[in-house]
Amino acid sequence: MNRLRLAVLISGTGRSLKNFIEHIDDGRLDAEIPIVVSNSQDAKGLQYAEMHSIPIRIIRAEDYKSTADFSNAMFDCCRLSKVDLVVLAGFVKLLSIPNDFVGKVVNIHPSLIPSFCGKGYYGNRVHSAVITYGAKISGCTVHFVDNEYDNGPIILQKTVPVKEDDTAETLASRVFEMECIAYPEAINLIAKRKTQIVGRRVKISP
Ligand code: GRF
Repeated sequence: MNRLRLAVLISGTGRSLKNFIEHIDDGRLDAEIPIVVSNSQDAKGLQYAEMHSIPIRIIRAEDYKSTADFSNAMFDCCRLSKVDLVVLAGFVKLLSIPNDFVGKVVNIHPSLIPSFCGKGYYGNRVHSAVITYGAKISGCTVHFVDNEYDNGPIILQKTVPVKEDDTAETLASRVFEMECIAYPEAINLIAKRKTQIVGRRVKISP
């Protein structure tokens, strides 16, 4: 079976991109990254693509008049690079998913969806909200992407404890450690054709 070809979409520090590259390099992620796309030229994560000679495209939402036009440009780029899966890795813009990419776009969110997610829940805002609410566990969710924020069918979730002395920063770093395990695990499930979307649910075959 050919390795899964990933387009990795970033907006910021690209820690997830770095994690994928490390997993691919040591054989723990059965994939390759033919293209990294950022919606900002200033995304720090672009350095990881450069260091590994991965082609980069910048596609800025400001250059398009609607989400639909921006999304068309993004997915045209993914089609050109013949990718199997579009992986949102700290990518902050809403996309409209075209028919040929339904079930082929994934995201990770740093909470247990459907809690603490949706528009406005990003970065440490998520973890502050978890702590303020008094939740005892948090975690991360890998899910297929539809046309709403943090809404598509869930592939897998992993939990972490919320400690009494946690700050948004300490909780964020505990959750991110778990993300570094969960995201490659979910992509490997897709690479092995073990996921099947049935309505809102994702069936995982053994
Ligand atoms: C992670 O917390 C992830 O859950 C969210 O973006 C963060 C990673 O961003 N989607 P980055 O890879 O450091 O840019």
